[in-house]
Amino acid sequence: MDIVAPEVERYMATLASGDDEPVLLEMEALAEREEFPIIGRLCGRTLEVLARAIAARRIFEMGSGFGYSAYWFARATGADGEIHLTDTDAGNETKALDFLGRAELDGPIRYHVAPAFDVFDEVEGEFDIVYCDIDKGGYPEAWKRARSRVRVGGFFICDNVLWSGRVAKAAEGDAWTEAIQELNGLIASDPDYRSTIVPTRDGVVVALRVS
Ligand SMILES: C[S@@+](CC[C@H](N)C(=O)[O-])C[C@H]1O[C@@H](n2cnc3c(N)ncnc32)[C@H](O)[C@@H]1O
Repeated sequence: MDIVAPEVERYMATLASGDDEPVLLEMEALAEREEFPIIGRLCGRTLEVLARAIAARRIFEMGSGFGYSAYWFARATGADGEIHLTDTDAGNETKALDFLGRAELDGPIRYHVAPAFDVFDEVEGEFDIVYCDIDKGGYPEAWKRARSRVRVGGFFICDNVLWSGRVAKAAEGDAWTEAIQELNGLIASDPDYRSTIVPTRDGVVVALRVS
């Protein structure tokens, strides 16, 4: 199911064409060629705008791939930020460091090749933003670990929370759909957060810690 009509997405993309930097285009071409699930241009811009809105400096990404989402966060933090990227695939680290280096956005980047939760336990302190984009079965656990480590006034952000519309129907035993439904329910009912789902592309939940 298309969440946004394709012609509307195309229209929105034309408005974002001012970001056509060579390295960004290369990353998008790689994703297209290898069918790698990046967050995409429109949601990438959402990440940058949210990070700039709260002057984010310290960000933790669960599931970073070759650095596409971090590209947008790094635009917001500048070189004196601290962005922890995590992925279990070492090949993604190599690509991310190459892309982000050539884009001159590698100043804040700390790439960890390991399971996201292991790194999250090791890197101490609170974050301005925790962003989640790991395998979907891990979403409820990601929220349970992250919710108390986002600073008040910071964001928990998670991609694919509308899951091509599948979350709106009975999961019928599909473990990833069930996990995303559980995550959405946990966030929506958490008294320490005010949240909304931005229905661009596959849905991005933006949860602001208020207490
Ligand atoms: C959807 S992609 C990430 C895309 C990236 N955030 C972007 O927008 O370009 C998911 C990535 O998370 C990694 N991954 C999945 N589960 C993980 C986990 N539990 N810990 C660390 N990395 C994980 C996969 O190897 C994959 O590269």
